[in-house]
Amino acid sequence: MKDVNRKFWQRILGIPATGLPADPDCWTYAGGKINVDLSRAPELAAPGGGLRLEGNGLPVRVLVVRGADGTFHAVKNRCTHLGHRRLDPCPSGDGLQCCSVNKSAFDLSGKRVSGPARKPVAAYPVTEKDGRLIVEIA
Ligand code: FES
Repeated sequence: MKDVNRKFWQRILGIPATGLPADPDCWTYAGGKINVDLSRAPELAAPGGGLRLEGNGLPVRVLVVRGADGTFHAVKNRCTHLGHRRLDPCPSGDGLQCCSVNKSAFDLSGKRVSGPARKPVAAYPVTEKDGRLIVEIA
């Protein structure tokens, strides 16, 4: 798993590499489901890409990631270590890394791989259909 390229001060402040969507209307949330229009989410066009979703009535922060094999994954975007910082997809597309100095890492299913976090992060089912992703967080 490759480290996410962050400067030390960015890690001190907990600033993730993954920004909010360039098109804020690329996703909606209703009835416990997030609906992402992939044609409006270039962040997920390539393996290793990530889409950071928060606000809009969403009860939890969610990170959607495109894995190295092209499949999509979604996790609760909250590291389980005590700082509860946000996560980023690793550039290699095979895992997630906390944006903090301590760099806890998880696989794409949310299982802890390394770092001070001891618990997994919650993962949500993702289905892809007709150019859209449905993430079930309920
Ligand atoms: S908050 Fe993630 S490693 Fe500390």
